[in-house]
Amino acid sequence: MKPTSDDSDAGQGWSVYKRLLTYSAAYWPAFLVSFVGFAIYGATQFLAGKWLESVIDAVKEGALDQRLWLALAVLVIYAGRGIGSFLGNYSINYVARFVIHHLRTQLFDRMLLLPADYYHHHTSGEMLAQLTFNIEQVTVAATDSVKVFLREGLTVVALLGYLFYTNWKLTLIFIAVAPLLGVVISVASKRMRKLGHRIQKSVGDITSAASESIKGYQVVRVYGGTEFERDRFHKASDLNRRQYMKLVVAESINTPVVQFLVAMALATLMYIAMSPAVMGSMTTGEFVAFITVAGMITKPLRMLTEINATMQKGLAAANAVFTTMDQTAEQDHGSLAPTQVSGELCFSDVTYQYPEASVASLQHFSLQLHKGQTVALVGRSGSGKSTVAGLIPRFNDGWQGEILLDGQPLQDYSLAALRQQIAIVSQHVVLFNGTIAENIAYGAQANATLAEIESAARAAHVMEFAERLPDGLQTQVGESGVLLSGGQRQRIAIARAILKDAPILILDEATSALDTESERHIQAALNTVMQNRTTLVIAHRLSTIENADLIVVMDQGHIVEQGTHDALINRKQHYASLYNMQRNEESDG
Ligand SMILES: Nc1ncnc2c1ncn2[C@@H]1O[C@H](COP(=O)(O)OP(=O)(O)O)[C@@H](O)[C@H]1O
Ligand SMILES: [Mg+2]
Repeated sequence: MKPTSDDSDAGQGWSVYKRLLTYSAAYWPAFLVSFVGFAIYGATQFLAGKWLESVIDAVKEGALDQRLWLALAVLVIYAGRGIGSFLGNYSINYVARFVIHHLRTQLFDRMLLLPADYYHHHTSGEMLAQLTFNIEQVTVAATDSVKVFLREGLTVVALLGYLFYTNWKLTLIFIAVAPLLGVVISVASKRMRKLGHRIQKSVGDITSAASESIKGYQVVRVYGGTEFERDRFHKASDLNRRQYMKLVVAESINTPVVQFLVAMALATLMYIAMSPAVMGSMTTGEFVAFITVAGMITKPLRMLTEINATMQKGLAAANAVFTTMDQTAEQDHGSLAPTQVSGELCFSDVTYQYPEASVASLQHFSLQLHKGQTVALVGRSGSGKSTVAGLIPRFNDGWQGEILLDGQPLQDYSLAALRQQIAIVSQHVVLFNGTIAENIAYGAQANATLAEIESAARAAHVMEFAERLPDGLQTQVGESGVLLSGGQRQRIAIARAILKDAPILILDEATSALDTESERHIQAALNTVMQNRTTLVIAHRLSTIENADLIVVMDQGHIVEQGTHDALINRKQHYASLYNMQRNEESDG
């Protein structure tokens, strides 16, 4: 589940690189144009060397009549350079921006399909950091670095070409340093990739720390967490700073070392080139141009070593992105897709253990929910009620035993079709930034008519407060519905479920945020909604489920008792004692 360690990551540069390249494969014509553009750019460097040689020879020989074409050549060289760099630059960005777009959307698409378990083990901060920071790192690597790599790389090739063309023996001396350069660059690359990976992790920590204290600002203030949160954030930020500094050290050592190796080659070259035997075989123009061009190579080489850091950071980021993209999506191999199920649910001997949990949260659980019935789950918190609810839409997947819907195993339905049959209202209401109406008619319900939305809103007692708002149902609820009370938000969630009108309804403490008065009203509405559909209701207040067809009492993942309200009261055991306890509490309060 955890991201790969940075050690194993360091060895994966090449495979990540190849995988990134496959993304650009579809854009090979643009890539080719870019290559040609930068090749033209590089060729102008070759020509510049040749031009210098001709100027010196012309001056030396007093061939001043050559000045017209030499002057025109300057214009040609610069025009070529301009056109080449435009073509190269435009095309490489064209490719890179598509690659980034595909990468980002594929990452997000995968996140939409990841199992519930993934979300339990990764913070939203981490996931957001991947979509923003990591993708940005890949972007810079894929645009700027690739551009510099092509342009300067081809320049080096052109300049080397000139050197070979002028004096290949001398050039071989110059080339001899290449293997050494290779070793230095590869060691540095590994180190940079490792640091790049750590930097991303620290950015994830920063976003997590920030988003948690922003979301929980009230708890932070009231429980004196300001100091703790500040400390946590400062630490994360400082860790980030330190990793960056290490990267700076790696970069700053790398470049001069490479430069010095090149200087050594250059010095050797000079020394040998100026020996009388060699000098005699070259014209002055050739000689001066050769030395000048050899010197000119140092600049593109420096740029190449400098962008290596960006490149390695990008590769490390791409690796993390690919790791997320390779997470297995929810298992969805079923093909049954009925438009409407009748809602007959049967659990037989179901045992479920959360991944990474040490004990099963549900053990040998058997229960039959007949079509149209209302079954209530009650029991202490932690007894496994929500776990049961999470099995039906297959959020909690991978159970032992069998769960049948209309006589067919749940796994035989396609996930989308299965979930289409289910409406859920849970304790944690999720509202999206938008209007009340948009929140009620969310997702597949988005094309509901205003009349339908209104009638759902009325049934869930949303109209009661919506009517008093200036914009009615068109009032913006604010991010996560912060502008509404808990009870109001829960009513919107209930309206959403009513509008969906699905054969299976799951209410997991759906009315817990309501006061007794509102709960009684909504209960009446829910009772109407529950008719003709299979309902699993988990309730804290037992008074709300007295009329259920079946009441199931759970404890520590087991069913300890079941029956109707009257039967269970007569048994005078678990349910009866829970019930009497609540009655006493209510009359005391
Ligand atoms: N995502 C999870 N990973 C591991 N254990 C979990 C997870 N969710 C719940 N549990 C454990 O499963 C047990 C049952 O939880 P739950 O079904 O939520 O109880 P209830 O809804 O009855 O209060 C608890 O012991 C809880 O700690
Ligand atoms: Mg629960």
